[in-house]
Amino acid sequence: MKKYNTAKSKELFFETKKYLVDGVSSSFHKADNEEYPVCMTHGKGSHLYGVDGNDYIDYVAGFGPMILGYAPDVINEAVTKQLAKGSQFSAPTEDLCRLAKKLTEIIPCAEMVSFQSSGTEANMHAWRVARAYTGKMKIVKFEGQYHGWADEQKVTIGAESIDDLGPREKVNKLMPTAGQRVSTADDLIIAPWNDVDVLEKILREQGDEIAAVLMEPYMCDEGPILPKPGFLSTAKELCRQHNVLLIFDEVITGFRLSLGGAQQYFGVTPDMAVFGKAIAGGISLSMICGSREIMSAGHPSGTFNATPIAVAASLATIGELEKPGTYEKMDAIGKRLTDGILDIGKKHGIKVYANHHNAICQMQIGMDRAPLDFRDCLQNVNREAYDRFYLLARDYGVRLTSGRGRIYISTAHTEADIDRTLEVFDYILPLSVK
Ligand SMILES: Cc1ncc(COP(=O)(O)O)c(C=O)c1O
Repeated sequence: MKKYNTAKSKELFFETKKYLVDGVSSSFHKADNEEYPVCMTHGKGSHLYGVDGNDYIDYVAGFGPMILGYAPDVINEAVTKQLAKGSQFSAPTEDLCRLAKKLTEIIPCAEMVSFQSSGTEANMHAWRVARAYTGKMKIVKFEGQYHGWADEQKVTIGAESIDDLGPREKVNKLMPTAGQRVSTADDLIIAPWNDVDVLEKILREQGDEIAAVLMEPYMCDEGPILPKPGFLSTAKELCRQHNVLLIFDEVITGFRLSLGGAQQYFGVTPDMAVFGKAIAGGISLSMICGSREIMSAGHPSGTFNATPIAVAASLATIGELEKPGTYEKMDAIGKRLTDGILDIGKKHGIKVYANHHNAICQMQIGMDRAPLDFRDCLQNVNREAYDRFYLLARDYGVRLTSGRGRIYISTAHTEADIDRTLEVFDYILPLSVK
């Protein structure tokens, strides 16, 4: 198998680094363990093309938004049409009304919606609405779950070991970024996810002060972990008992597990939800939603909230995803990939776990069963092997998310993409595990 030459990417990255902090525009555009990232020229469908002339089968999906693949004709056409009419009016439009109505029809918890531009902003707004509605200030957030980079959000999102996390009953507040205001975490309670007992205790003892329990309903950002059977419905019932709102952060799961998100997929409807990433197929748009009563508790401003461009892209994305068989096709592609990963693991006698759920797949090296929670991953996933796997995949034409084992499927992925990917994985898996 021939290794890609990426000399031009290296040169371009170090030139960019002279003018742009870290040489990338978001910290994960370069993995910690790579000297330089591959620089791209364009994408089409499930492939990205590098400045070095290399062709990559991509499973990063621009961090999630590209659920229809890169440069999908249907979005290009909708956006181009709208561009000709104007990109920004700061006024309602007919399409805005259509989109808001459509979202309330497809998302179970949505009686009303409110738009923002990024997942970070939408989560900030959701927390504020929850506090305004309940008159309480504390938010329960779970270890290993990322909801955005704002001071109050980026708390205990990662850890080197479970010692850093502290006891399950009183998880440490880890604020990883220099300059984060420590006092913003005063109103946070950090809990282990998938643990009903600890959640019950927190709500019993502090429910009077807690506005909301916020969670990724399928923990994805730091590496996929499924909710234990009954965890989501029990969390909902506990929240109801203590007059606390349950908020699902569906920034990743929204439109990926199903059009109605994880709440539709798992059949548990939260009080509020936050959507972003895939809802406009690659143009920035995010949204919070909930009942009419809750959503009336606050309204944000924002120059770029739901621009006509984003609205056009979102309507086009929904139109595609609504076509019969779309999710079944993505699920079948994900199954082909993850069955293949499991077979490769068996063939080489290497412990690998893989699973697929519509447009989200996962793989973990070092485990041969589903991870139970964040601590289980920290203790048992072979992160060094995955880091090497990530770099090797890149060298042989497969683009993965670094460090986390999360794999995004789009409507553009083909069986041929999967078969080629598996050939590469078959070659690199033994090389990754020393
Ligand atoms: C679950 C989750 N919530 C919120 C965010 C923040 O979204 P954004 O990067 O659009 O600000 C992310 C981003 O990766 C995420 O994965």
